[in-house]
Amino acid sequence: MDLAKTLKSPRLNGWPLFWLIAGPTSLVMIVGTLRTASWDGPAVSSMIQLSVRFSVPWLFLAFAASSLQVLYPGPAALWVSRNRKYFGLCFAAGMAWQGFFILWLVTVYSDYYINEVYALRDAIEGVVGYAFLAAMTVTSFMPVRKRMTPKAWKLLHKSGIYFLWAYAASTYWWALYYYQNPVPLDYVYYWAGFVAAALRIAAWTRKRNKKERKAKPHGESRPALKLLGFAIIGAAVVFAALAKSWYPIAEELLYGYSFTRWPELYLPYWPFEPYFALFIIAAAGFLIAKARA
Ligand code: HEM
Repeated sequence: MDLAKTLKSPRLNGWPLFWLIAGPTSLVMIVGTLRTASWDGPAVSSMIQLSVRFSVPWLFLAFAASSLQVLYPGPAALWVSRNRKYFGLCFAAGMAWQGFFILWLVTVYSDYYINEVYALRDAIEGVVGYAFLAAMTVTSFMPVRKRMTPKAWKLLHKSGIYFLWAYAASTYWWALYYYQNPVPLDYVYYWAGFVAAALRIAAWTRKRNKKERKAKPHGESRPALKLLGFAIIGAAVVFAALAKSWYPIAEELLYGYSFTRWPELYLPYWPFEPYFALFIIAAAGFLIAKARA
């Protein structure tokens, strides 16, 4: 099979690709709704869960798209980059379904929402997430996009995709390392989100390293620093996998001070435990990028 030729097929690009994904996703939501015998808070909540599970993979793909091009140039990475907008819109379409079920939950099963779901900080994160998603969706269309400067458009889409990635990544982190009954899909989605972010760090490191080599053509490479960088990355992945054991200590150390009261109540994702391992990997990436005297 000629992969490059297949991935150039009109049916696998642009709007046909969007409908190939969003069409069946919507069908699953409609069938799921019609097959639900009796409605209550938990039933609507499980449709929220289903709609997100059909959305998150496209978010992670759009998040990793440009990095795949840097790290693994070829027909597959090119296809993902070429269709990044449409993968983003597939995520938006799935999240439109989540939005529909959320409105249903909040308006019809308000008691359940208030007693079982509502938490101020989650609501702040969720509403900001939807605000970003709405802005990114409308500015994906040229008539709106051309009214923005390229710099403003890039800032919106970069901060928006980082915010939405952070929401999904932290939801699965809490499912694995704080709540009691993670399902196998939670592990798949957590590590997929982790790898998507790690690919961005690796692509940044590769680009930075290239820049260093260009700036210092006669510079000496420092293999020890590189080795240290890779050792730190290995340790960070183990640290990420052992979060269940270190989280209670982090909770003791990071919560409950008078000066952290405000961020604990209002600041999205504070104090950022789900990303600690990725912060360490980013620092190691910086070391590796600098491994040239
Ligand atoms: C105010 C806005 C939001 C509300 C009220 C809300 C509500 C919910 C509820 C009730 C669930 C749990 C479903 C269940 O387990 O039964 C859920 C799951 C989830 N939501 Fe949202 N959400 C909001 C915004 C968002 C945003 C912006 C994202 C961005 C990516 C998102 C991603 C997720 C994810 C990843 C899950 C986990 C699904 C799973 O278990 O696999 N949500 N949400």
